[in-house]
Amino acid sequence: MQSYQEFLQEVLIDEETLQSRIGELAAEISRDYEGKPLMLACILRGGVMFLTDLMRRLTIPHTVDFMAVSSYGAGARHSSGQVRITLDLQTSIEGKDVLLVEDIIDSGNTIASVIQLLKTREPQSVRVCSLLDKFERREALVPIDYCGFKIPNKFVFGYGLDLDEYYRNLPFIGVVRPDRYIPPE
Ligand code: PRP
Repeated sequence: MQSYQEFLQEVLIDEETLQSRIGELAAEISRDYEGKPLMLACILRGGVMFLTDLMRRLTIPHTVDFMAVSSYGAGARHSSGQVRITLDLQTSIEGKDVLLVEDIIDSGNTIASVIQLLKTREPQSVRVCSLLDKFERREALVPIDYCGFKIPNKFVFGYGLDLDEYYRNLPFIGVVRPDRYIPPE
C-alpha cells in the first residue's frame, strides 16, 4: 500500500484544530450530562478515534459500548436507507442516556436507523455526537446534537475515516485527490 501522501490533496482539518474542537465538545457534554447515566455508543469502525479522544476529555462518569452496521447490499444504504446491525450493543440501554458517537454523518440513513432501533429499548434519551457533518448529502432528517465540523461534499479520509480500509490512523482529516482515487459508489 502506498503512503497516504499519494492520495492527499489537502488537509481539511489539522490535528490541532480537531483536538481543540473535541475538547470543546467534551466540555459541553460533561456539563449537559452531569449526574446522568451517560453511555457512549460508538458506531464502528470510523468512530473509534473520535470516541477515544472524546472520552479522555470527559470529566463525568460514563460507560462505553459499540455497534456495527452495514447496508443491505452495495449502494442500498443510499437508495433504501435500510441498514443491518452486524454487531449489537452488549449492554442494556434501558433508562440510560445514550450518546451515539460517529465520525461522519453523510446521508444520515445509518444514524437514523440506529436511533429508530435504540428507541425501542426504552432508554432515557438518545442523542447524536458526530465529528463531521456532510450536510449537503443529507437524505434522512436527523438532529446532530453535538457536531464537530460541517464539511463540504468532498471525499475525506483520516482520523477514523478510511480509504479502502487504510489510513484511519492519520491524526488529521484530509481530502482525497480525485485524480488518484475514485471512491466506490
Ligand atoms: C460511515 C460512517 C457512518 C456512515 C455515514 O461508515 O462511519 O457510519 O458511513 O453514512 P450515512 O450518513 O450516509 O449513512 P462506513 O459504512 O464507511 O463504515 P466504517 O465506519 O467501518 O468505515
